[in-house]
Amino acid sequence: MPTPDLTLEGLVHDLRNVLETISDAADVISADPKHARLAGAIRRSVQRGTRMLTSFHESSLAQLDLDIILDMAIECSRDFMQAVKGPSIEFTRQIDSGVRLRGNPAAWERVFTNLFLNAGQAMEGDGAVSITARLSEPGLEVVVEDNGPGISPKILPRIFEPHFSTRAKRSGLGLHIVRTIVVEHGGEITASNRPSGQGAMFRISLPRV
Ligand SMILES: Nc1ncnc2c1ncn2[C@@H]1O[C@H](COP(=O)(O)OP(=O)(O)O)[C@@H](O)[C@H]1O
Ligand SMILES: [Mg+2]
Repeated sequence: MPTPDLTLEGLVHDLRNVLETISDAADVISADPKHARLAGAIRRSVQRGTRMLTSFHESSLAQLDLDIILDMAIECSRDFMQAVKGPSIEFTRQIDSGVRLRGNPAAWERVFTNLFLNAGQAMEGDGAVSITARLSEPGLEVVVEDNGPGISPKILPRIFEPHFSTRAKRSGLGLHIVRTIVVEHGGEITASNRPSGQGAMFRISLPRV
């Protein structure tokens, strides 16, 4: 019998304990009405972490409502930006009716959360992110655009590489994770700058569900 991957299983097990401790702490904090918002953000973060751990090995063929995935990713980004006193982002979306994603909901939540956090981290002040999803003959195309400074053409070919980052003390793994998840779901992702106006643009193409 193959030895189970103790590194990963052990990590998942121990992270569950870490999340439980944080969740208990949130309960204590929530007793003070002054900290109700913070307690809510901590609890939602714990729930996100739990979703990621629970679904790590799942490869489901479930059909997912893109709007619901986006709601979760937007909420996560807002919690994060508030916690780090980052910019406030206005999100807009134009989603064709009947748009579904296939696969693992926690994985898709990570894709959009990473894209939104990168947009927020690139912005110099408050800004906007727009999400467009169009169904066509070859499949589904989801475009995420922001109005930040955009991406220098010099680094564009490298941004999906693991550990590539232009920011101090960052892991440079975000976009690598995004691309890995998209590819695992049979799709591809490209990055560019918006043809009209300033900002970065990420285009995800997926086969028809
Ligand atoms: N929306 C964006 N606007 C401008 N630059 C971006 C954007 N998204 C990613 N980048 C660039 O791509 C790099 C890699 O992103 P990522 O893989 O998420 O790593 P990290 O966020 O840890 O730096 C960032 O350091 C940044 O230079
Ligand atoms: Mg990132």
